[in-house]
Amino acid sequence: MSRTLPRNAFTRLEETDSTNLYALRRMTELPDRHVIVADRQTRGRGRMGRSWRTGAGDLAASIVLKPASTEHIGNLTQYMAVVLCRTFAPYGVKAGIKWPNDVLVDGRKLAGILGEASFSGTTFKGMVVGIGVNLNMDREEIERIDKPATSLNLLRGAPVDRDSFLEDLLGRFFGDYPRFLETGFPLIRGEFIEKDVLIGREINLQSAGSRIKGKVLDVSMEGFLLLECEGGGRRVVTLGEAEC
Ligand code: BTN
Repeated sequence: MSRTLPRNAFTRLEETDSTNLYALRRMTELPDRHVIVADRQTRGRGRMGRSWRTGAGDLAASIVLKPASTEHIGNLTQYMAVVLCRTFAPYGVKAGIKWPNDVLVDGRKLAGILGEASFSGTTFKGMVVGIGVNLNMDREEIERIDKPATSLNLLRGAPVDRDSFLEDLLGRFFGDYPRFLETGFPLIRGEFIEKDVLIGREINLQSAGSRIKGKVLDVSMEGFLLLECEGGGRRVVTLGEAEC
């Protein structure tokens, strides 16, 4: 399977603060589908204002996307989560998703995704999809992460070639990307739900400054979480972070 991307589609950096920030600062000049990949990040960023650690040999990359319509940009990170799970499969690793877009194996985080849109006033300039994957961490590095984590080399028992992994990931991502832009979340909803570790579970959810407790019933056609609340009633959650 040859999916080689043109060389000019990449910026390769030894070090940057954050590949997402690098892309956001250059949004005007970077073309659609450009990929930034860095060996080291000094200020890697995660969701909910957290930081993100990238070890030597791990993947820190950001994709610049400039779709003609903003209709489905809110679901791009969920699409990426599904694509990441597909990319892990040939390594013998069955990954799950924790809504909205964490990628886990047995409750331990293997990859995270940070989507950031760029606007000039009300004009959409583009979107950055940042991907952090623990590819080659040793056990001590994993222990230093403040939440349960794992790494692909540990799961498969051999080092992982970052560039081959990235090429495969991008091939899979862009292979279905035009269809995703036409269809949006319904294209991947079945696969997402099948992989979502929260379905049917009682969770505590931190969402927009409040805590919600309930049972996860479903993920909607829009990619939102449908909860049966503890005190009764149903609630549609558009963003948040689940503890379970
Ligand atoms: C999460 O909190 O789960 C999201 C983590 C996203 C990390 C990646 S690493 C590449 C890109 N650059 C960043 O600063 N963050 C993302």
